[in-house]
Amino acid sequence: MTPLAVTVGAHADRFAEEARRKAAEWGLPFLKRPAKGGVAALLAGSARACLVRSADGWALRDAQGSLAFTPGIAQLRLKRLAKGHRDDVLLRLAELRPGDSVLDATAGLAADALVCARAVGPSGRVLGVEAALPLWILVSEGLARLPVDPGSSRIELVHGRARDVLKGQASRSVDVVLFDPMFDRPRRSSPSFELLRAHALHEPLDEETLAQAQRVARRWVVLKAGRYGKDFRRLGLKAMELGRAGPVMWTRVEPA
Ligand SMILES: C[S@@+](CC[C@H](N)C(=O)[O-])C[C@H]1O[C@@H](n2cnc3c(N)ncnc32)[C@H](O)[C@@H]1O
Repeated sequence: MTPLAVTVGAHADRFAEEARRKAAEWGLPFLKRPAKGGVAALLAGSARACLVRSADGWALRDAQGSLAFTPGIAQLRLKRLAKGHRDDVLLRLAELRPGDSVLDATAGLAADALVCARAVGPSGRVLGVEAALPLWILVSEGLARLPVDPGSSRIELVHGRARDVLKGQASRSVDVVLFDPMFDRPRRSSPSFELLRAHALHEPLDEETLAQAQRVARRWVVLKAGRYGKDFRRLGLKAMELGRAGPVMWTRVEPA
């Protein structure tokens, strides 16, 4: 069984040519959608997960469910920002200003990256890094289909490991580096986050990667972790007191 394949959704044969081309670009097999059973039949016998092109764009499907890219979570935060609220924890800690550059080392579904892109504005720059191939594909295709927001910078999303991408960056070349790795003690969450969890890279942040981020950042390295995990303790970091005790802890570290 192939771990990941590309196919098309129901009544989506008009996208077969595009899906074939993308599959070749991504180095993945293209599987013809069976007339009987559709994607479910492929998941039962040929592929553990499928990237499925339909009229709504791309979705990642496996036996557990389906995950589509949506800017939904970011949009709530962007609306608050537009209304003048200054309580977004990430933006408070990163002290982002128009024209800044951000390297989001664990981009995931790019909610943080979209919020940063609005905060740095069209003259700023956001580079996202995602190590998990299916998530990188889903999110880069999703971002490419978003209407252009004249108030935001474009997000460039690269496929790779944070440490490798950071090593390729010049010292003091971005204002802020952000880490939001998978929590070492997962919280119970929505079915779509469970699908993200199943396909994400679960690699605890290590000292070498943090040191690389401190070399590359000019202002702050901002980090998020689960409150009940050991991520910060392991790295000798202390969570910042932000006036509310939620399931998430934050801290920031100065450049080296
Ligand atoms: C909790 S999610 C990030 C969510 C993201 N901040 C957002 O707003 O949508 C963590 C993501 O980082 C990715 N990841 C974990 N370790 C990584 C690493 N070392 N390099 C690059 N990506 C990594 C995972 O695959 C996952 O998609």
